Amino acid sequence: MNIIYAPCTSRNASQSLPSRHNVVLIIFDDLRPTLGAYGDRLAQTPHLDAFAQGSSIFTRAYSQQALCAPSRNSLLTGRRPDTLHLYDFYSYWRTFVGNFTTLPQYFKEHGYYTYSCGKIFHPGISSNNTDDYPLSWSAPPFRPRTEQYMNSPVCPDRWGVLRKNLICPVHLQTQPYKTLPDIESVTEALRFVQSRAKSRRPYFLALGFHKPHINFRFPRQFLAHFPLSKFYNYTDDTLKPPDMPAVAWNPYTDVRARDDFKYANISFPYGPISTHQAAQIRQAYYAAVAYVDDLFGKFIAGLDLQSTVVVVLGDHGWSLGEHAEWAKYSNFEVALRVPLIIRSPEFPLEQAKRLYGITELLDVFPTLVDLAHLPALPTCNRTKMPPQLTCSEGKSLYPQMQGVGLATQHVALSQYPRPGLLPTKHPNSDKPKLHNIKVMGYSLRTDLYRYTLWVRFFAQNFTCDWNEVYGEELYDHRLDAGEEMNLASLSDFDEVRMRLRRRLLQAVGS
Ligand SMILES: *[C@@H]1O[C@H](CO)[C@@H](O)[C@H](O)[C@H]1NC(C)=O
Ligand SMILES: *[C@@H]1O[C@H](CO)[C@@H](O)[C@H](O)[C@H]1NC(C)=O
Ligand SMILES: *[C@@H]1O[C@H](CO)[C@@H](O)[C@H](O)[C@H]1NC(C)=O
Ligand SMILES: *[C@@H]1O[C@H](CO)[C@@H](O)[C@H](O)[C@H]1NC(C)=O
Ligand SMILES: *[C@@H]1O[C@H](CO)[C@@H](O)[C@H](O)[C@H]1NC(C)=O
Repeated sequence: MNIIYAPCTSRNASQSLPSRHNVVLIIFDDLRPTLGAYGDRLAQTPHLDAFAQGSSIFTRAYSQQALCAPSRNSLLTGRRPDTLHLYDFYSYWRTFVGNFTTLPQYFKEHGYYTYSCGKIFHPGISSNNTDDYPLSWSAPPFRPRTEQYMNSPVCPDRWGVLRKNLICPVHLQTQPYKTLPDIESVTEALRFVQSRAKSRRPYFLALGFHKPHINFRFPRQFLAHFPLSKFYNYTDDTLKPPDMPAVAWNPYTDVRARDDFKYANISFPYGPISTHQAAQIRQAYYAAVAYVDDLFGKFIAGLDLQSTVVVVLGDHGWSLGEHAEWAKYSNFEVALRVPLIIRSPEFPLEQAKRLYGITELLDVFPTLVDLAHLPALPTCNRTKMPPQLTCSEGKSLYPQMQGVGLATQHVALSQYPRPGLLPTKHPNSDKPKLHNIKVMGYSLRTDLYRYTLWVRFFAQNFTCDWNEVYGEELYDHRLDAGEEMNLASLSDFDEVRMRLRRRLLQAVGS
């Protein structure tokens, strides 16, 4: 079975392929590439690492915005946050901008049985309070019943009093229904896979893990692999870059709000938090990742990988103290870079194939369409009015997986909004609501650089004034992978800076 079907002939694929592959999309909430397969030596992720062995590993994949709802809606509709006009949690694209076809909907319309298990769409208004059922899914999405306790006092302190803690290792016996949301989702996903075993109709299953998103609630035993001492000197770049514009800063308000951090009186907005608590956060993040890796292993053992395309990704990253920050909510590499691992029976691999080209989560939709040999998805013409309903703003990674794509010229475009020039609690500058947004930071990742431009944004009509610049950042990844030295004010870099600014404007489409 080494026949390779190029995307341009895929219109005939339904006749030429014996039967369609199932497709499984797995999303981990707030997962940065802290995986063994991505070279992280502290990580304990044997199941994801083993899975990655037979897969394509995209080493430089980026989210479109480091916040759940905008990132997921972008991934699932194949459109940028600017197209969806979604930078917060509070609008539904079908009624707000256009009745755009989603990734699962496209599979459903092409004969697949589609099912959502756990957190795929962000819950609430941004998916119409239904995870976009029925248009995206063949059956009502499964949400674990313990999900409702996500922000409840469920973390026993040393006296057994239940608290709303950030760091929350637990005994399952003490938890509501004696389980956790991700355990429930995996049980349901396995039940689903078994129930489809005899069906001739292919399925598209999306499985969304809640962890390692905060709070760090996981079965206690996962802490055992991670001695706290290993997490003190985790990273060198623990300082706020001296020339970083204040608008770029995010004061990690949600960490400060948790019971175990509230009383530490962390100075607003820049902190720092104590070195002990810093180590504890990192330890808990790694333990939470080990926990979901274990569940991933249980799930993947129940799949037939000979007949299933599987994609694994994080919706965005998380800063574990880099730049002295403890959250997503920014345009830094650590907040935007995610694991992206794709495995297809069409490309059997004896060892992992690393693909170093720059990719975006936007690329997942057209890539899965090509891997399933559905009719290729057109690229959206963003100036067309009214907008096309079925298209993608990303590019298919299928040619790269075939080994024919040239990836060196690709860039990733991300963005983050702010309500003003300084970090604030009210409005919360970590996650401003649309009507409060006054500044947009656009960030371009090229092969060598990250270039970020913060400009005036008008929420009434979704336009920017590109001449009103509030901050500019330039990081050279050859010398400064941690993005600690902002070079934007150095005249030696004027030429590079102006070239990248033009490239960014081109990518934004202005
Ligand atoms: C593709 O399908 C069309 C319509 O069914 C048919 O006319 C054409 O010959 C097919 N091409 C190939 C290469 O099978
Ligand atoms: C949106 O599109 C779907 C099919 O793609 C259709 O069933 C539905 O009626 C449309 N809704 C609106 C409001 O146009
Ligand atoms: C969104 O939800 C509302 C209220 O529950 C419902 O009437 C409407 O049909 C939903 N829209 C779509 C596109 O499913
Ligand atoms: C971290 O590094 C500092 C300076 O290099 C050293 O003094 C300290 O002992 C280290 N801490 C741990 C827990 O390894
Ligand atoms: C934090 O501030 C509160 C109120 O001012 C005070 O009671 C508490 O002792 C402080 N905690 C620490 C750790 O300094």
